[in-house]
Amino acid sequence: MQNSYKRVDAHLSSLGYCTRSEAKKFLSKNMVCIDGVRVFDVREKAYHNDITVENEPLDAENLLILMNKPSGAVCSHNDVGVLIYSLLPQRYQNRNPKISTVGRLDADTTGAILLTDDGELNHKLTSPKSDVLKVYEATLVQPLRGDETEIFASGELMLHGEKKPLLPAKMEIINPTLVRLEICEGRYHQVKRMFGAVGNRVVALHRVSFGDFSVEDLKPSEYKVINFP
Ligand code: URA
Repeated sequence: MQNSYKRVDAHLSSLGYCTRSEAKKFLSKNMVCIDGVRVFDVREKAYHNDITVENEPLDAENLLILMNKPSGAVCSHNDVGVLIYSLLPQRYQNRNPKISTVGRLDADTTGAILLTDDGELNHKLTSPKSDVLKVYEATLVQPLRGDETEIFASGELMLHGEKKPLLPAKMEIINPTLVRLEICEGRYHQVKRMFGAVGNRVVALHRVSFGDFSVEDLKPSEYKVINFP
């Protein structure tokens, strides 16, 4: 865990409490303390862990958040419609560096999405070399025809426009139009394209888990802060 030493205004602005130019006013309006002693001078330096705001410790220096993404929210910083970031507290939205999603889910896909301001961690989790297991529940427009489990498991399925076949994926049939699919890649619209390749269409897609992180205990739009690794 980081515990950086810098000016109070730098701490407050990078964590989204206020901008650097608002810091003086913030200190006069809020009880900001270093080691329990109230500060009024924005230039005072301190370790992150020694600062409190209104008797609460500062937000963590690096954030990792698990959200149950609702349908309609967009995983982008600049798009039309409801941006997923707008579902987070304003302070998190103001952070610098910014919080970004770890990979993306389509606007109509629901479920597990991680968000972090740690670029290195984000890169690690989204790199093609990372083999994070993602579990999806896909609802299909028409009943399975019967050979899908074998095709997905084969490691030979080639998606349109791609040069490499997909890695083997495990499919469990819940009922003829509902499946649970485990994949460890994250290609563009992968699940929808997989079912497209076998003559079907996904009408609802929910990501149950991303690696160890499951949204089974989170309602749509709910999130929780994960203790940083
Ligand atoms: N596969 C898709 O097709 N869409 C998603 O949002 C995620 C995986």
